[in-house]
Amino acid sequence: MAHEVRGVIAPGKNEPVRVETILVPDPGPGEALVRVRTCGVCHTDLHYRQGGINDEFPFLLGHEAAGVVESVGEGVTDVEPGDFVVLNWRAVCGQCRACLRGRPQYCFATHNAKQPMTLTDGTPLSPALGIGAFAELTLVASGQCTKVDPEASPAAAGLLGCGVMAGIGAALNTGQVGRGDSVAVIGCGGVGGAAIMGARLAGAAKVIAVDIDDRKLSIAEGLGATHTVRSGENDPVAAIRELTGGFGADVVIEAVGRPETYEQAFYARDLAGTVVLVGVPTPEMRIDLPLLDVFGRGGALKSSWYGDCLPSRDFPMLIDLYRQGRLDLDAFVTETIALDQVEQAFDRMHEGDVLRSVVVL
Ligand code: APR
Ligand code: ZN
Ligand code: ZN
Repeated sequence: MAHEVRGVIAPGKNEPVRVETILVPDPGPGEALVRVRTCGVCHTDLHYRQGGINDEFPFLLGHEAAGVVESVGEGVTDVEPGDFVVLNWRAVCGQCRACLRGRPQYCFATHNAKQPMTLTDGTPLSPALGIGAFAELTLVASGQCTKVDPEASPAAAGLLGCGVMAGIGAALNTGQVGRGDSVAVIGCGGVGGAAIMGARLAGAAKVIAVDIDDRKLSIAEGLGATHTVRSGENDPVAAIRELTGGFGADVVIEAVGRPETYEQAFYARDLAGTVVLVGVPTPEMRIDLPLLDVFGRGGALKSSWYGDCLPSRDFPMLIDLYRQGRLDLDAFVTETIALDQVEQAFDRMHEGDVLRSVVVL
């Protein structure tokens, strides 16, 4: 039996999103039906709506979600009805080369639910990042559900499903920030802001926030930055070096996704420092660095995909820290909105004063 619920659809390239009735099937083998409590509005949802990811319209948007398992299909043992879960994009296979080598974050045989959710006329929907959680119910692979402390605020918990996890993980997992390190974060939106928190959590002594927008810098201070640099007015490379005794930062996290900011990150790191690229570039972007400068500096150039997270390891741990008051996830929830306000949330993204708008169902 399929469930008739409301969901936010992106009908075609650059067309505004709208709320429609959708059909969500009961879970089949390996699947879980989840009653969505909250879902954050992410740039990637806007990219889907703009046709920037692929042309498989119509999309069912939303992928930063927390909810309660409604029912599970045959063979599902990892979650059960009533569990409070945070959703992730992809269930890992456990059997591929990456999984067997103990690095399931790089699994190349990930999967999502097999059965499609559809419009009432039977048109299949493409769920954003294999989730589609701007909907009252969504169908996912059970491995996309991670059980966390049910006492956590759903709005805060759901944020771990994407941008906030990407930022925290860029610092903790990819950058391997250590106690006493100096860390610079270039770009202090939701992802960079979370990287600042991750750096603090790891015990960084200096956390330097760099942005072109003063409002983001004051938010960054609230999130734990010890120093701020207004880029544009100041040369961020010179400023970061000056704040680190002339050496550059141990870890520089690029959270914008542009060639010029990547170049700044490259030169703002200590000779043996690490650069982490977590901002998402577009296909036409290029960098042009003297190879001698790559050769002449040690350290590491890394990229961080989804914060190199392992949902089953990282989500419950971060929720515990949140519950103990050591990780202020609520700081990312700028506003809570209804299902029919996603298009307005996209508009607000450009105004620059929002870390996250979160749909509450
Ligand atoms: N130097 C420093 N900061 C910059 C620059 C620049 N040249 N250009 C933009 N910024 C800042 C913006 O002012 C903003 O605060 O980068 C921040 C980007 O934040 P958001 O737009 O909120 O994006 P966010 O959700 O944090 O994602 C960052 O990761 O997921 C990807 O597509 C996303 O590439 C984007 C990046
Ligand atoms: Zn695998
Ligand atoms: Zn996202």
